[in-house]
Amino acid sequence: MRKRRVSTGTFISFEGIDGSGKSTQARMLADHLRSKGHEVVLTREPGGSPGAEEIRALVLQGDPDRWSAETELLLFTAARRDHMERLILPALAQGKIVICDRFADSTRMYQGLSRGDLRGTVDALHTLMIGREPDLTLLIDMDPEQGLARAKGRQGSEERFEDFGTELQTKMRAGFLALAQEFNSRFRVIDGARNIEAVATDVTNAAQTHLARKTDASASLSE
Ligand code: ADP
Ligand code: TYD
Repeated sequence: MRKRRVSTGTFISFEGIDGSGKSTQARMLADHLRSKGHEVVLTREPGGSPGAEEIRALVLQGDPDRWSAETELLLFTAARRDHMERLILPALAQGKIVICDRFADSTRMYQGLSRGDLRGTVDALHTLMIGREPDLTLLIDMDPEQGLARAKGRQGSEERFEDFGTELQTKMRAGFLALAQEFNSRFRVIDGARNIEAVATDVTNAAQTHLARKTDASASLSE
């Protein structure tokens, strides 16, 4: 059979508690992969498309009690749907690597866990409206006290979830580790409580291992 390149891209997400270093590592991975010649789209949630960025402002600014848990879930899902339609799916169809700073696992944790148990509703809505998981999820795991100290060091008006404090972030950390077991084929857990370069080395290795496996799989398909 003639060799044929598989043209679907690779979808990588970063997850973890606030301040764990996701944005830093997502940026560094994007730079690294670009330096190796890959086409990379670096994006984030909530946001990543003009409409979703507008929704970001609605959910992250203002009074924390502005929305019920269910309304908040609908807003995050609406933002994700727009982001998928306008940025993520077109980029993947063009064979690009999409790196997303948070994705649906954040909704499973923050909306699914933080204000009662909405996990079933989160998953049902995800199946109905999103229907796609990342190919690889890098969980930057670390102690919440350390993460909060880092997150508080940043300036800005988007403090809603950071304001939940250490107790919630501890629950989130445990929840993320449980998700990593639930979806163990796509998750890699990375120790984030080290210097930036050490964390970045593990991130790069995990991404490169995934990309190499994918290349091997597509080569054997086309033989
Ligand atoms: P997140 O996106 O997970 O909230 P950021 O990447 O924005 O985290 O990092 C939060 C803060 O901590 C930033 O000021 C960043 O420069 C700093 N930071 C990130 N990674 C590390 C690290 N490994 N060690 C020390 N500080 C870090
Ligand atoms: P982000 O800007 O990534 O925060 P940080 O850099 O502090 O990690 O995300 C903003 C907040 O939005 C964060 O506290 C988590 C929350 N969030 C949800 O509650 N649900 C979601 O689906 C997503 C994507 C984020």
